[in-house]
Amino acid sequence: MSWRDAMCGELTASEAGRRVKLAGWANARRDHGGLVFIDLRDHTGVVQLVVRPETLPVAHDVRNEFVLQAEGDVVKRAPEAVNPNIATGEVEVQVETLRILSRSEPLPFQIGDESVDEVLRLRYRYLDMRSDRMQRNLRLNHSIINAIRRTMDDLGFVDVWTPSMTKGTPEGARDFLVPVRLQPGTFYALAQSPQLFKQLCMIGGLDRYYQIATCWRDEDLRADRQFEFRQLDLEMSFVEREDVLDVLERCMVASFEAAGRKPPARPFARMSYAEAMARYGTDKPDLRFGLEIEDATERTRGSQFGVFANAPVVRYLVAPRAFSRSELDRLEEIAKEWGAKGLAYLVRDGDEIRSPIAKFLSEEELAAFAGGSGTTTLFAAGDEALVARVLGGLRTHLGRELELARDDVDVLHWVVDFPLFEWDEDNARWTFMHHPFTAPMAGHEEFEDDPGSALSQHYDLIWNGWELGSGSVRIHDAAVQQAVFRVMGLGEEEQQAKFGFLLDALKMGAPPHGGFAAGIDRVVALMAGEPDIRQVIAFPKVASGSDPLTGAPTTMPDGVLRELGIRSIVNPKAE
Ligand code: AMO
Ligand code: AMP
Repeated sequence: MSWRDAMCGELTASEAGRRVKLAGWANARRDHGGLVFIDLRDHTGVVQLVVRPETLPVAHDVRNEFVLQAEGDVVKRAPEAVNPNIATGEVEVQVETLRILSRSEPLPFQIGDESVDEVLRLRYRYLDMRSDRMQRNLRLNHSIINAIRRTMDDLGFVDVWTPSMTKGTPEGARDFLVPVRLQPGTFYALAQSPQLFKQLCMIGGLDRYYQIATCWRDEDLRADRQFEFRQLDLEMSFVEREDVLDVLERCMVASFEAAGRKPPARPFARMSYAEAMARYGTDKPDLRFGLEIEDATERTRGSQFGVFANAPVVRYLVAPRAFSRSELDRLEEIAKEWGAKGLAYLVRDGDEIRSPIAKFLSEEELAAFAGGSGTTTLFAAGDEALVARVLGGLRTHLGRELELARDDVDVLHWVVDFPLFEWDEDNARWTFMHHPFTAPMAGHEEFEDDPGSALSQHYDLIWNGWELGSGSVRIHDAAVQQAVFRVMGLGEEEQQAKFGFLLDALKMGAPPHGGFAAGIDRVVALMAGEPDIRQVIAFPKVASGSDPLTGAPTTMPDGVLRELGIRSIVNPKAE
């Protein structure tokens, strides 16, 4: 016996006259006494069942979300009964047998109700999953991964599984640890990425590796971050930057096509890190709107306004709105959150300029910096990194608040030529900007002399202001790798303890290689037009780090911990 021989959402007028057997959920019911209408739903859509309770009294028992099986004839509806809002609106099924396969208690929320609190949706994710939105997103996720796999296969990449339980991988987040019962007191780290294994695959002669890899990172959760997420992770031997970018662009085009959307034109635009920071104040600018940062440093050298005259860098942006006092106070607060000392401004309203600093500025300065009527010029003065952070933060904020980004365009672009190192204020030492395996750019091999000015062969892919992925050409020479470790302050012994296996491998015939990792969940969320990646992940965690469905994480019985050689020093209930 088969449960069904047709799908609800696929019954159109051309099927009229067909005898069908359907199975699904009661999406809605209207009991008119002599006639019961039930909208039956499966993952393809909804079709109207017409049941005569006279012969099928069970129809009166049906409630929303009961699981039903119905057999009957597809018939055309009378013209006045046609429902143009659903694909099956021209037909209905005259039911002859009806069975309740499973009952449902009243639900905690209505399927597809967008106003439901997200934690409640996640607590009952299996109900939430019945909504069109989640069905669409999870299926889109599947189609995109399929398209990527096909593309990678066509290009000759080999899918290799690498371990989840490994040694700490430095990707900039904390590790999740796995205690090892057989060796009490020791831990595996869950892989933050397959970075070193994929490099070892290149040294192993695999030539082109890829994986849809699950990665684990203990970091604060946000719209674009989960503890566990998936990467399209790839690595290639005997390649240069351009070869890697080409593969990624092909994958992105295939993903757009899989989602039924017009792919962006190739090649994607490029921008250097220095340019991104100067013009947009961030290395992941949203290019769907302008609001570019302008430089005023030279023009304010001799200013009467001391804050400007004495600052190493003065920059500004001109927002398309004459802000009120309270709006400016709020913007100043935001600027201060980013580290600014204050927020000087010029509001241009008609011919009038409102500004606490106007009295210090010359006519030329006012003319140069004030925008047209209905604008506000916002200044940041300070060192270059601070000014970029403040104006970049304000630009992103204003882009959102003033809805400057066009939502009918997608801008994918590369940011290239990143610095190799950055200064770690907290620990007063140089550290890698992305991970320590990135090769220096040609001409920057002597980075030990001046780490701060060395550029790397790192590149990022940005989509509407989201970092989709990162990669680089790698170091394939043990001596260069050791020089990077030295700059980071790792002595010989520490290098051996942490990365001895990599240094060994680099000394045994390592080919030039490079690669990339793109966050799949981010790609799918952007493709689906969702505001956060939780909406495209079947069972995500919420910001507190919990899983509302299972109630994890939980404490463990003392006996279990003892076996693992662990003693808990906190009592979560008392915290
Ligand atoms: P990176 O650390 O930049 O690079 O990670 C690559 C991409 O993975 C996604 N991503 C995340 N997605 C969801 N939640 C998270 N917590 C999260 N963290 C990262 C992002 C990001 O751009 N090994 C290198 C790649 C390489 O050099 O080949 C790496 O992992 O989209
Ligand atoms: P002050 O001279 O500190 O009274 O500041 C005068 C104006 O300049 C105020 O509107 C401050 O918010 C602003 N301001 C002070 N420091 C900075 C700075 N580093 N960058 C931009 N604006 C500033």
